[in-house]
Amino acid sequence: MLKDNIQSLLAQVSELSAANAEEVEALRIKYLSKKGEITALFNEFRNVPNEQKREIGQLLNQLRQQTESRINELREKVESQKSKVESKLDLTRTPDPISLGTRHPLSLVREEIIDIFSRIGFTVAEGPEVEDDKHVYGMLNFAPEHPARDMQDTFFIEKEIGVQKPTDVLLRSHTSSVQTRVMTSQKPPIRVLCPGRVYRNEAISARAHCFFHQVEGLYIDKNVSFADLREALLYFSKEMFGPDTKIRLRPSYFPFTEPSAEMDISCNICGGVGCSFCKGTGWVEILGCGMVDPNVLEACGIDSKEYSGFAFGMGVERITNLKYRVKDLRLFSENDVRFLRQFEAC
Ligand code: PHE
Repeated sequence: MLKDNIQSLLAQVSELSAANAEEVEALRIKYLSKKGEITALFNEFRNVPNEQKREIGQLLNQLRQQTESRINELREKVESQKSKVESKLDLTRTPDPISLGTRHPLSLVREEIIDIFSRIGFTVAEGPEVEDDKHVYGMLNFAPEHPARDMQDTFFIEKEIGVQKPTDVLLRSHTSSVQTRVMTSQKPPIRVLCPGRVYRNEAISARAHCFFHQVEGLYIDKNVSFADLREALLYFSKEMFGPDTKIRLRPSYFPFTEPSAEMDISCNICGGVGCSFCKGTGWVEILGCGMVDPNVLEACGIDSKEYSGFAFGMGVERITNLKYRVKDLRLFSENDVRFLRQFEAC
């Protein structure tokens, strides 16, 4: 009986198969563990009559050896299969292509403006976008009834945030508010650029948006003249649009500067000959500027008899349009990667 069992197991051994390490281990447990089938046969061995012990003993040992070597063989096989699979994995490969973003054209141009003015000593100052009336208008010589404070231009914030009147809180409509903050907190000489986002209540179209970006500049020192203003702006225009660029200053009005001017550059699309972009004039307007009104200096605690200064302000979108011919202002805030990718090389 025992002999038959041994022999039928011996016949099975060479047929054993396993697909993975777990199956190999299951075979080992089934046959060779303490409760395994072969171990059970060994336990029966003591009941074998003496005269058969030699023969059965040999068979049992043969069975155990063959099972062990078959299981080892299977173990090696599954391990080598596993390492073959692993060797096909390239763990150094980058996963799915990581698409890198590009710099936004407005950021590129803002940085370029800052870079140009930093070469003549301007540093950057920043301030809050949610402002109060005093810093945006009051200290900048806006008369209380000035139309720029009108609801049409300014976004007033209804909610009272610890201020006297709800209408005192607003979204800044220009970054000149940062200039008033700098003038009240620093002593001249002052040479700052104020970049940032501004808000105006305008209908959104290809040519206007309810927010845009500005870089304004302020220089206050002893004996600052209009000639200094003109020279600084000419330098900027040539650096930004090329050495052949010409500028012209047209008289204008801002409450906070006197005299005030609007500056045009020679149209960089037609070279000043006249085209549809410059409406045949050869000139395009790019910024407002002027000498800081003495009232503003005094309101900010600066002695207007000792100091004078100039200020200017430009729209970053406008400069970007001129540089890169972006026809529709809305593209800047739509986050369309097809548009943004075009500035990859800039
Ligand atoms: N603050 C003005 C505007 O937003 C621009 C400006 C700045 C004009 C400084 C003159 C001097 O339109």
